Amino acid sequence: MPELKRIGVLTGGGDSPGINSALRAIVRRASAEGIEVVGFRDGWKGPIEGEAQPLTLADVSGILYVGGTILGTSRTNPFRKRDRDGETVWEPTERVDAILANLEKLSVDALIAIGGDDTLGVAHRLAAYGVKAVGIPQTIDNDIGGTDFAIGFHSALATVTDALDKLHTTAHAHHRLLIVEVMGRDSGWIAVYGGLAGGADVIIVPEGPPEGSFSVDEVEEVVRRRLAQGRRFSIVVVAEGARPRELGGKQVASGEVDAFGHVQLGGVGYWLAGELKKRNLPLTPRVTVLAYLQRGGAATPFDRLLATRFGVKAVEFALEGQFDVLTGLWGTEVRAVPLEEALAQCPKPVDPELLRVARAIGIG
Ligand code: F6P
Repeated sequence: MPELKRIGVLTGGGDSPGINSALRAIVRRASAEGIEVVGFRDGWKGPIEGEAQPLTLADVSGILYVGGTILGTSRTNPFRKRDRDGETVWEPTERVDAILANLEKLSVDALIAIGGDDTLGVAHRLAAYGVKAVGIPQTIDNDIGGTDFAIGFHSALATVTDALDKLHTTAHAHHRLLIVEVMGRDSGWIAVYGGLAGGADVIIVPEGPPEGSFSVDEVEEVVRRRLAQGRRFSIVVVAEGARPRELGGKQVASGEVDAFGHVQLGGVGYWLAGELKKRNLPLTPRVTVLAYLQRGGAATPFDRLLATRFGVKAVEFALEGQFDVLTGLWGTEVRAVPLEEALAQCPKPVDPELLRVARAIGIG
């Protein structure tokens, strides 16, 4: 097994609470073995441009509960996405050569990449060029395969639950139909967990048949049923990636597409409110878009622990020579899951059992 002297670490994609807890654990575990850690700035941009800083015990002191990432993040992609005969292929660009040269120049023996499927996908593709990488799953969307939970999901859930608790009182007081748009590009994890924990009356997710994941009629039906039962308010939680049958697709906020080919989503909540207004319900629709609030703030105790465990294991996998894997939570155990296997399951759909539980207690 090659001796590890220096580990590089980077944080890419949308940030989430708990990343800094993982960085702290990586530096502490590596230091205990006499291994140096260098942090690359702003995701894959760091190793491309050779932008790195030493990460010492002093640098990670006091960051356990601080949101965001002290390294910064970006959605930089060293590969180019191409469609070939209906299949997506990732072509290397000169940025891959730059990464290889900079890792060599900085004597980085192994790399830990913290991020979602895009960031981890790059780590996996770089394995073909000899880069020894370990991935740590991090995204509030919780849509990464190979792990029960990704860092950040639990904290986002806490934010959504808190918001729903607050929205309940005003919905009740004003007899309103409150529509709460939450994140979740392809998967309804935040919507279902948040909606259940916060007592939503309707939960709408992106998953579902190709023609759409919900219709306005279905939402109206639940609201009218509740009205007939004397419930003079309703709260609808809708994931940003939900697909109204009437629209035939997702509601897009702008034509902006990132380096991984994702279009900027947002607006389905306002669209739904507009449609429900036309139905002459005796409740006034109002919209709350939780947006980036879900990614911000301090991590919950669960995320701090998960991130600490993932950080420790990521260093240990590297010490054992296990690369091209991610740290995956399986029940209570953290395992080394091949990145190939985990990425093949992305985007991981929401657990249908949770949706069943929601329907079983009358949530539409
Ligand atoms: O972090 C994941 C995510 O929150 C998605 O749910 C959302 O679509 C996306 O990031 C938006 O991120 P940005 O606007 O930073 O590209």
